[in-house]
Amino acid sequence: MGLIKELDTGTPIRVADRRVSLTIDGVAVSVPEGTSVMAAAASMGTQIPKLCATDMLEPFGSCRLCLVEIEGRRGTPASCTTPVEPGMKVHTQTPRLARLRRGVMELYISDHPLDCLTCPANGDCELQDMAGVVGLRDVRYGYAGANHFEAETDASNPYFSFDPTKCIVCSRCVRACEEVQGTFALTIEGRGFGSAVSPGGTDFLGSECVSCGACVQACPTSTLIEKSVIEAGQPEHSVVTTCAYCGVGCAFKAEMQGESVVRMVPFKGGKANEGHSCVKGRFAWGYATHKDRIVKPMIRDRITDPWREVSWEEAIGRAAGEFRRIQAQYGRDAVGGITSSRCTNEETFLVQKLVRAGFGTNNVDTCARVCHSPTGYGLKQTFGTSAGTQDFRSVDHSDVVLVIGANPTDGHPVFASRLKKRLRAGARLIVADPRRIDLVKTPHVRADHHLQLLPGSNVALINALAHVVVTEGLVDEAFVRERCDLQHFEVWARFIAEERNSPEATQAITGVPAEEVRAAARLYATGGAAAIYYGLGVTEHSQGSTMVMGMANLAMVTGNIGRDGVGVNPLRGQNNVQGSCDMGSFPHEFSGYRHVSDDATRDMFEALWGRELSAEPGLRIPNMLDEAVDGAFKGLYIQGEDIAQSDPNTQHVVAGLMAMECVVIQDIFLNETAKYAHVFLPGSSFLEKDGTFTNAERRISRVRKVMAPLAGMADWEVTMALSEALGYPMAYTHPSEIMDEIARLTPTFAGVSYARLDELGSVQWPCNDAAPEGTPIMHVDRFVRGKGQFMITEFVPTQERTGPRFPLILTTGRILTQYNVGAQTRRTANLVWHDEDVLEIHPFDAESRGVRDGDLVSLTSRSGEISLRALLTDRMQPGVVYTTFHHAVTGANVVTTDYSDWATNCPEYKVTAVEVRRTNHLSSWQERHRVEEEELTRVDRGAEAAE
Ligand code: SF4
Ligand code: SF4
Ligand code: SF4
Ligand code: FES
Repeated sequence: MGLIKELDTGTPIRVADRRVSLTIDGVAVSVPEGTSVMAAAASMGTQIPKLCATDMLEPFGSCRLCLVEIEGRRGTPASCTTPVEPGMKVHTQTPRLARLRRGVMELYISDHPLDCLTCPANGDCELQDMAGVVGLRDVRYGYAGANHFEAETDASNPYFSFDPTKCIVCSRCVRACEEVQGTFALTIEGRGFGSAVSPGGTDFLGSECVSCGACVQACPTSTLIEKSVIEAGQPEHSVVTTCAYCGVGCAFKAEMQGESVVRMVPFKGGKANEGHSCVKGRFAWGYATHKDRIVKPMIRDRITDPWREVSWEEAIGRAAGEFRRIQAQYGRDAVGGITSSRCTNEETFLVQKLVRAGFGTNNVDTCARVCHSPTGYGLKQTFGTSAGTQDFRSVDHSDVVLVIGANPTDGHPVFASRLKKRLRAGARLIVADPRRIDLVKTPHVRADHHLQLLPGSNVALINALAHVVVTEGLVDEAFVRERCDLQHFEVWARFIAEERNSPEATQAITGVPAEEVRAAARLYATGGAAAIYYGLGVTEHSQGSTMVMGMANLAMVTGNIGRDGVGVNPLRGQNNVQGSCDMGSFPHEFSGYRHVSDDATRDMFEALWGRELSAEPGLRIPNMLDEAVDGAFKGLYIQGEDIAQSDPNTQHVVAGLMAMECVVIQDIFLNETAKYAHVFLPGSSFLEKDGTFTNAERRISRVRKVMAPLAGMADWEVTMALSEALGYPMAYTHPSEIMDEIARLTPTFAGVSYARLDELGSVQWPCNDAAPEGTPIMHVDRFVRGKGQFMITEFVPTQERTGPRFPLILTTGRILTQYNVGAQTRRTANLVWHDEDVLEIHPFDAESRGVRDGDLVSLTSRSGEISLRALLTDRMQPGVVYTTFHHAVTGANVVTTDYSDWATNCPEYKVTAVEVRRTNHLSSWQERHRVEEEELTRVDRGAEAAE
């Protein structure tokens, strides 16, 4: 096992129908039209020396190291900027070229410190490599001339440093920031010898830089280099795995020294990210070995007792004994389980199997309940399957992109970079969001329309957009006729054409000017291939499912389904939201979204699992909590989920947990929920796991173990042990066997195996005999359900209303550098960017309350009260405030309500009526939280602690 070195062809590989044949060094080669001579040579194994070129970037032609001779042409053109032509005869190695290249290198080296042996890039430096390749033996110009050796290192970024003494001004970093990341944080300042890279005249930390790491990766020297490499030295082997943060599902090479990660490098072969990354996946992995990791099982009799470390056997025995006692005393359905979208498919599948077959109940639910369950419902009703329609690559073919209730530059940064690239190339953009998110106006990107709607009015807006399409004759009639259920279409078209759905009539609800809605609808319907991307700003509403169906209606009526560049695409929050839903985590469905009441499906599971299974759907998370408060639900096994912080109406969640007799938490940290637990089973981080994640594209990717589980047992082994102790033994020896079982039981996964994943890199389900290599785009010739079904989407206002006591609307979201409840990112240097949750408020609303920037304010709703600092910003519209929920101490969900989506119970996080006032103290909840933090997380380590 060595270091994986990916081929760098110097310039991007082009895609073209026509191929061009030429000879390079006497060897015939054929490449797609538009390919550079450099990339053509690389494709046949010839590496032409280069410094300013790398295949993640467009050719630049500045270093003059890649010169070649072409028969019939004068001079020595740069191979990186010269496209191939038919019949070309290229020579890459001649005495003249060798002389010229050596001369170029001499110039570079005359202004470069000669400290290779102590340089952190020693062994991974392209300048060093090129000096070797061109046979540099002397520097005729000497080293005494003017140089940059006194320039100061900028170490302000927590993860990488910038040492300008090593810079060769190749501009790769500047171009990476522009072309790959789309942030434009870097420039070359000055001219000639005085030219230098600058992060906008300030240091990196104070600049526009979002720490994606693209410049670091592009830098051929040690000028920009990871601090972890400076500290640890060069890695010696690497393992390809998948990021465990968001639903983009980026592939990374974990570059290692033994079992220690030196750095995470985005993998060019990863189909979701193609070599790009964001600050979380690239740099924020240190939490995996943070001192707060719990690596010993613990138990306690009462939640007010200190935790006591015990053996695995004792902890698992306690958990199983308690669950069996509770079932004997209160009935089979008094217990349940919650699976996690942070865990692998295999782990998730196993937990739901344990609940259904081991506990004998369908009381299993997933944290996806609180984010994308309406996606599952809405897309299944309209299209027939609960998943997004496209792969990410598809956006390269979009002419119009409609982003609704999503903030990709913060939530899904690598997809956002791809989207911005397409927008810079000319695609048009419509943003529907209550806030002025970055996409509305970012370097070289400007939304054509920002539909700044009021939270809670999504359905009125989507109806208005569809109304324009139907009443202005913009329907794609051929598509509707051939692909959709006409009867439903006609009923829907009559409904949507009603005046009450017009932009003019809905303006009072949405707050968006009617003309703006009309213009946006016309653009979406007539601007070419139009794609919808959406996030939790769609789903986390009392009408989340209705809105998903509304978007599906709009896509169908304009024919924007079933090909490149179109579709309806959920941007999934967590790394494995798609997977946890696919794996049968919902109480009413087996894996592959088949209802538990379906006899044939149940027969199949019963035959393989050897247990009779219930045909009755079990309890959802909110029902479990309600029943606990009512005294009927007593025991819960939670794997990798922190409902006390992430679920709405914290007080109710806590009341439910406190009413239970046995709460078992399997996690890597003592999270908020663990305060109310009786058994703690240490979990493992993604670096300690073998398994798979499924991203927002339905792409199943391998997660590969790079270090042994710190607690000694992998998560799937813990679930197996618990199941065995419950009297339902399982007999897997590796997660691949769990995947084999998933494939046997789930038609959409029938062709998935670890061997197939290793062979293809990743695969998008459905993957079966009909699609052995997976399905990048769904519903191509027909919808999964046959004919596409238009659904009536009546706008029903949320019951959460503003009024004199609570005149503002609170909406919540997340930011780039923190992740969800922050359990991981708060334990990394990402805190430097965001160390507390703040309340964004429009200056108008602030002024009328006497609130100044940075003031502590109380945020009160009908559910509760918290205090946090105010941030005045006109990103907000008057009447709407916004906060994040990354810090447990903030307790953002203390104020959110119990309202939820009518179809799926997905909580309505996005609409809470609140009031904001200046204050000088924390709320009583926050004070109590501080005390509980000490009381309920005490660990009694006995003699060991005393020592
Ligand atoms: S880390 Fe990313 S955003 Fe920052 S300067 Fe480099 S490329 Fe630009
Ligand atoms: S910092 Fe690195 S990539 Fe940027 S110009 Fe200097 S050597 Fe090139
Ligand atoms: S975009 Fe998402 S998956 Fe990719 S590196 Fe960032 S957090 Fe990880
Ligand atoms: S690699 Fe071609 S000019 Fe630099």
